Amino acid sequence: MNCKAIIAVLGAVLCTILLLLAPARVQAAAGTKVVCVSCHSTLPGKYGEPVALWQGSIHAESGIACNSCHGGDPADAANAMSPARGFLGVPKERDVPAFCGRCHVGVEKDYRASAHGRALGSGGPNCVTCHGNHAVVKASLQLINEKSCSRCHGFERARLIREAMEETEKRMAAMEGKIATFRGRGVDTERLEKGLFALRNSYRSLFHNVDVGMVRAESERIRGELERLDKILRKVDEAERVRKLAGVAVVASLLLAALLFSLLRKSYD
Ligand code: HEC
Ligand code: HEC
Ligand code: HEC
Ligand code: HEC
Ligand code: HEC
Repeated sequence: MNCKAIIAVLGAVLCTILLLLAPARVQAAAGTKVVCVSCHSTLPGKYGEPVALWQGSIHAESGIACNSCHGGDPADAANAMSPARGFLGVPKERDVPAFCGRCHVGVEKDYRASAHGRALGSGGPNCVTCHGNHAVVKASLQLINEKSCSRCHGFERARLIREAMEETEKRMAAMEGKIATFRGRGVDTERLEKGLFALRNSYRSLFHNVDVGMVRAESERIRGELERLDKILRKVDEAERVRKLAGVAVVASLLLAALLFSLLRKSYD
């Protein structure tokens, strides 16, 4: 085979791979194959607005389209919004937690048990009050701010929660950095990383309880766990120092032996 033929074959293989990948990716990324998106993007006002808001959301990014939330048939424009195809319509305020909770099961459970969940329908916030409906972005402690949280009550309890959680987040980030430097030195840190990952996940699910006492207790527990990880790292450091010292001792004794040997030989010569 000459050079041209090889290039042609490689080109064909590459094209086939791209063709196989492209439709799925375009569909997931832009939702062009979802009829809800193509029709609603042509509608004015409140029926069209959700499209642009949703496009920048973590849901769009994760392949959660209109029909994932509202139900219906995303492949059949004529019957897309037929209840027979599972179309749910727009949830009433009281039904929002169950609507979102189909996927966010743990969050819904914590929320329902909280002061907020208990006040649902009588002045308590629902998921959309804090996260929005279509422009949902990755959640963070920034959501706990004076403007949002003092719509219904004072900010004081919210501030206590935010401060405790921020401090703990900071410590977890510092530990992550520390573990990374150990990994860089060639230490096997897989178990430590897994431990920290689990801590982070359990801590992130804490907020919806909106319980100052619980946040404090959990923050204490996490700090204890971080101490424990830190101790393990200090032991690794210690073991390395001992190994280095032992290495130095071995080299020194070998040098000494060589010196003695050459002295002995000289004295016999
Ligand atoms: C051919 C155009 C078209 C398609 C396809 C379409 N919609 Fe609609 N949709 C509309 C129009 C027009 C309205 C407003 C009038 C109405 O409620 O029928 C609407 C209303 C809605 C509403 C608000 C209903 C309410 O009670 O206020 C939701 C939610 C909705 N659509 C979601 C979807 C979802 C999800 C899909 C895909 C499974 C979809 N739509 C597909 C045209 C469309
Ligand atoms: C993460 C879930 C979710 C996704 C994804 C989603 N929606 Fe919604 N949508 C909601 C919720 C919740 C409401 C009710 C809003 C409220 O209570 O504030 C709603 C309300 C609506 C309404 C009624 C607006 C009004 O003011 O009456 C329309 C129309 C609509 N959505 C269309 C869409 C379309 C079109 C898409 C896709 C581009 C989409 N939605 C994607 C959750 C979602
Ligand atoms: C059909 C399933 C589904 C429904 C219904 C749904 N979501 Fe999601 N949501 C996801 C997926 C998948 C992700 C991205 C992966 C993840 O972070 O869990 C996500 C991510 C999120 C995030 C970011 C999580 C993070 O890690 O920071 C928030 C906040 C969120 N959703 C809120 C909502 C709200 C509010 C509703 C209701 C209006 C809703 N979701 C309805 C599936 C869903
Ligand atoms: C009072 C405001 C508020 C309400 C109500 C609320 N959230 Fe949140 N949510 C937050 C805040 C603040 C965070 C960030 C917590 C953190 O970063 O530790 C968050 C985090 C999340 C996350 C990511 C956490 C994780 O464990 O991955 C999801 C998903 C989520 N919320 C979904 C929901 C759903 C679904 C509802 C309704 C059942 C809801 N939220 C109700 C404020 C709220
Ligand atoms: C839509 C109104 C509303 C919004 C917005 C709201 N809350 Fe609340 N919150 C309530 C109600 C109602 C209660 C129960 C009565 C009370 O304790 O004030 C409550 C109670 C609380 C409590 C006390 C819980 C307990 O068990 O004692 C905390 C803490 C709290 N909210 C934090 C927050 C934070 C943080 C935010 C912002 C991310 C927020 N709230 C936003 C309505 C709201």
